[in-house]
Amino acid sequence: MKIKKRIVIVGATSAIATHCARLWVQGIPVDLTLVGRDIARLERVAADLRTRSPETDVHVLQSDFVEPRAIQSTVSKIVDAGVIDIVLIAHGSLSDQGTCQTDLIACKQELEVNGISPVLFAEAFAEHMAIADHGTLAVIGSVAGDRGRKSNYVYGAAKGMVTRYVQGLQHRFAGSRVKVVLIKPGPTDTPLAQANAELWLGHGKDFRDEAGVEVLAPVEQGNALVFLCSDAASGVAGHCMIVDRAESAAGNTSAHEGSIMGTAMMLGRPTAAGVEIDMEALMAEYAAQQAQE
Ligand SMILES: NC(=O)c1ccc[n+]([C@@H]2O[C@H](COP(=O)([O-])OP(=O)(O)OC[C@H]3O[C@@H](n4cnc5c(N)ncnc54)[C@H](OP(=O)(O)O)[C@@H]3O)[C@@H](O)[C@H]2O)c1
Repeated sequence: MKIKKRIVIVGATSAIATHCARLWVQGIPVDLTLVGRDIARLERVAADLRTRSPETDVHVLQSDFVEPRAIQSTVSKIVDAGVIDIVLIAHGSLSDQGTCQTDLIACKQELEVNGISPVLFAEAFAEHMAIADHGTLAVIGSVAGDRGRKSNYVYGAAKGMVTRYVQGLQHRFAGSRVKVVLIKPGPTDTPLAQANAELWLGHGKDFRDEAGVEVLAPVEQGNALVFLCSDAASGVAGHCMIVDRAESAAGNTSAHEGSIMGTAMMLGRPTAAGVEIDMEALMAEYAAQQAQE
């Protein structure tokens, strides 16, 4: 009997994570552990997934998301049950910037849930993946972490921390069989965005038609994430993918041999990747093709 792929989702009630889970169960049955703060919400997600894939094993686990000992204990329970193939860390809360500016307790909580919490979960799983020398660790960050903006710099600062942390983790695991990926969504139509539509998207109702802004659907983020975690993308290591308004971009740390070549080629520096390519011949071939069309 084939062993089922073991997948863990932290923040499993997130709309983006739920779509990832649906994509994961739509193929071969998997063994899925859903971690969240609210057991009733987790059970709802689990029931939907069991209906979609009766042969998939779905486990739910309630956890504290901030207290380090609780996070450690949650992760230990999961790893004690066996080697993990994929971990997705998805949770996040779009902070009310105004409240964070006047209420330091709220500010601290937002920094914790968006920054420290994902880092602690990732670190706890990373330890076990390092021992097993196996697995893909995927984290959801945000484009909000790329620049400080007056409208959301507390949330952005926490997400920026996640970006830098993941970059270091990618460097740590370069050359190993552990793969670490970061996906930074742009505006995506989820409860997080809808609940803060005015703040986040700048429009209270159907922002897409009115503003002509292409907000992504959660399944689109799910597609990108599930692809990055798939065997098909096993050679894609050390990547941070931005999925924003139908555009995507990928950057990678130069620590990963496999991806250095791709980046060097994109930069037009194939020889930097140790690959001798006759660019003149390639360009001539391209010109000849163009002339034929
Ligand atoms: N939607 C966007 O436009 C957008 C853009 C960039 C990045 N992101 C990121 O994408 C990820 C997924 O979010 P989403 O868009 O799918 O939103 P979502 O559907 O609203 O999901 C948010 C998730 O975070 C959990 N969560 C919120 N506050 C929490 C807390 N204090 N403690 C523990 N868990 C908490 C929620 O749990 P409950 O179900 O228990 O509330 C839920 O699982 C987040 O990291 C978010 O920052 C989203």
